[in-house]
Amino acid sequence: MSQIFSPSFGLYAKLAVFGVLLVAVSACLAWRSVTTDPHRLDEPVNQPVPFSHKHHVEDDGLDCRFCHASVENSAFAGMPPMSTCMTCHSQLFTDAAMLKPVRDSWKSGVPLHWNRVYQLPDFVYFNHSIHIAKGVGCVSCHGRVDEMPLTQRVVSLSMQWCLDCHRNPQKFLRPREKVFDLAWQPKDQQRLGAELVRAYRIDTGRMTDCSLCHR
Ligand code: HEC
Ligand code: HEC
Ligand code: HEC
Ligand code: HEC
Ligand code: HEC
Repeated sequence: MSQIFSPSFGLYAKLAVFGVLLVAVSACLAWRSVTTDPHRLDEPVNQPVPFSHKHHVEDDGLDCRFCHASVENSAFAGMPPMSTCMTCHSQLFTDAAMLKPVRDSWKSGVPLHWNRVYQLPDFVYFNHSIHIAKGVGCVSCHGRVDEMPLTQRVVSLSMQWCLDCHRNPQKFLRPREKVFDLAWQPKDQQRLGAELVRAYRIDTGRMTDCSLCHR
């Protein structure tokens, strides 16, 4: 310390210098966390149109499959074409400014670009249909989407997160007919989970094989 600062340099001045350094370092770290992960957990993702699952699912009672039509039978859940929105919005809020991008896209046929909320790196293989078929609910991976005015990410999507379930799927399984029911709660998950592992013939032996997700 004494080599860096002359003895006449007061204690408070030293503290001030370190204070400035500390602020600078924390600012750098904060900046890095913002720039490296633009879609942070628990923060709504901005969209060209402020689409609300809360209004459309919870209040209007629409099923997930009305808009994410391929979720049960393909790897991708699918995004709704503008004609799906226009079944209602050609009569409802026809002049609303916030729906202009929807009308423009519908007329021009140029798809609306939604910002992704969940996205895996290219080297990871994922498939919705098998999870739905084996009784993994939307809520286990996407949270209470039906309560979100703007969609936000609620899980990390890290490898560890996938493996936490792949090692112990019985902790999360639900009857197939409850997959789309985000509010459903099990009474006795331990017993139910064990039953469903058998009933749905889940092969727990290969669920942690590297080649399952890295092919
Ligand atoms: C009326 C149509 C509609 C219905 C019904 C609907 N969604 Fe969506 N969903 C959208 C649109 C539009 C987006 C893109 C905007 C956004 O992210 O909010 C989206 C985005 C999502 C995303 C984020 C996708 C991404 O970018 O990674 C998830 C997860 C999702 N929906 C789950 C659900 C679930 C679960 C249900 C049923 C409870 C549901 N949705 C019902 C229209 C719908
Ligand atoms: C089944 C009919 C129906 C469909 C399909 C539908 N909407 Fe809506 N939308 C509504 C209703 C009803 C409201 C008014 C909601 C309220 O205030 O409770 C609304 C409101 C909105 C609003 C105003 C903000 C809000 O949530 O109140 C936006 C933006 C919107 N919808 C976008 C969309 C988009 C984008 C799609 C297609 C992915 C879509 N809607 C599909 C019925 C529908
Ligand atoms: C086991 C976890 C899991 C379950 C269960 C699940 N999802 Fe997903 N979802 C994901 C992951 C992971 C992604 C990102 C996929 C990618 O980047 O390839 C995703 C992406 C999406 C997307 C964006 C479009 C796409 O397919 O990439 C929508 C919409 C969506 N999910 C809706 C749903 C709905 C609706 C359900 C319930 C019927 C559901 N998801 C169940 C993990 C899950
Ligand atoms: C909440 C539980 C849960 C989570 C979270 C989960 N999975 Fe799964 N996954 C399952 C179950 C159950 C199966 C069915 C296994 C079987 O029947 O053998 C499965 C099967 C798979 C399969 C096999 C598909 C096939 O075609 O054989 C892949 C790939 C997969 N998961 C990838 C992922 C990835 C990647 C993630 C994380 C982004 C993930 N899973 C998160 C429960 C989960
Ligand atoms: C259930 C699906 C799943 C299985 C099984 C799995 N991985 Fe992964 N792995 C992932 C996901 C998801 C990521 C991306 C993580 C991220 O983006 O942070 C990943 C990332 C990786 C990475 C990149 C570095 C990192 O940690 O981000 C390596 C290396 C890797 N996995 C190796 C393996 C090996 C080796 C095995 C077998 C022992 C394995 N994985 C099994 C889902 C899986």
